[in-house]
Amino acid sequence: MDTLTTAALSFPVTPSPAPTPPASRDAILANPGFGTNFTDHMAIARWTPDDGWHDDEIRPYGPFHLDPAAAVLHYAQEIFEGLKAYRHPDGSVWSFRPQSNAQRMVDSAARMALPTLPVDDFVHSLRTLVETDMAWVPSLPESSLYLRPFMFASEVFLGVRPARHITYSVIASPVGAYFASGPAPVSIWLSRDYSRAAPGGTGSAKAGANYAASLLAQREATANGCAQVCFLDASEGRWVEELGGMNLFFVHADGTLVTPHLSGSILPGITRSSVITLAEEAGHTVEERPFSIEEWTDGAASGQITEVFACGTAAVITPLGRLRDGDRDIVIGDGETAGPVTLALRQQLVDIQTGQAEDPHGWMTQLA
Ligand code: PLP
Ligand code: COI
Repeated sequence: MDTLTTAALSFPVTPSPAPTPPASRDAILANPGFGTNFTDHMAIARWTPDDGWHDDEIRPYGPFHLDPAAAVLHYAQEIFEGLKAYRHPDGSVWSFRPQSNAQRMVDSAARMALPTLPVDDFVHSLRTLVETDMAWVPSLPESSLYLRPFMFASEVFLGVRPARHITYSVIASPVGAYFASGPAPVSIWLSRDYSRAAPGGTGSAKAGANYAASLLAQREATANGCAQVCFLDASEGRWVEELGGMNLFFVHADGTLVTPHLSGSILPGITRSSVITLAEEAGHTVEERPFSIEEWTDGAASGQITEVFACGTAAVITPLGRLRDGDRDIVIGDGETAGPVTLALRQQLVDIQTGQAEDPHGWMTQLA
């Protein structure tokens, strides 16, 4: 059986006996924050080698019953995805390139010795959950329903080997902007002491363990007044990789955009890939290549680099105002204002996602 294409799951719905009252839900949707409120239902499915994927359902949101010896709690065999559902002007709900998230989850699963969830089952789990919780999709600007599919080792076993009982789940959270500053430029901390990912490691998989590895540097960033961490490559400490949860683009005075190439230790962002397409269509040359920290420093000082932005599902496109390297600040542009290339790409992307612009690439999939 071709497990990559053969969808088998239907996710039958067991409705919540006590859904959130509409007035409370509306209060949350008016000011959603990021990742603190959740809808009334969740998707779940289980996998074993003998039965494949089974026990699929949409059920009331609530805790897992997890044995203390569940392998994920000990060996971090876990992956996740992140994508958003957007309310379009006609009230319908759409997501952006969900098949790409599904494929990335297939790739992450392969790296983390987890089973393949077929692309169509992944998309169907999103569709069924969003149909069930459609009232939770916000319609305010900059707001959406963040979907968080994830998969983990639920087998009760302390031996170190790929688990034989796996749980897949999707939860959904109404969200506003990831950064409290919205699309205003943020400051970034350059991590000189800690790496996020190494050659041969798990950096190109969306594995929870990568985020655990980034937290100490993130704490350092916060202590230094920065919103995020920029990681360099683990071998030489010279090549710019990505932020803890976003890819990077460098806009040059001649209109060229440079983004670090997919070295194997950075996440292949779906926003990154979309930005490359949109920028090329707008006439920019886009280079995917190694980009050193010296090139960043020199380019910002000389004015060769006019804008830097980070991109990802949560962050959309967020301008960077400064990079803090120890007690040295590398200022981008005037450090305070988002640049025109960043803003134009952001607007174009958001307009497609929210149904305000044509979708010539067929990136949008209707969920409800
Ligand atoms: N890099 C990392 C480490 C991330 O966590 C994310 C967020 O998902 C991205 C990049 C951007 O990926 P995407 O655009 O697919 O959200
Ligand atoms: C996302 O953009 O979806 C991410 O996963 C980044 C972060 C919230 C982990």
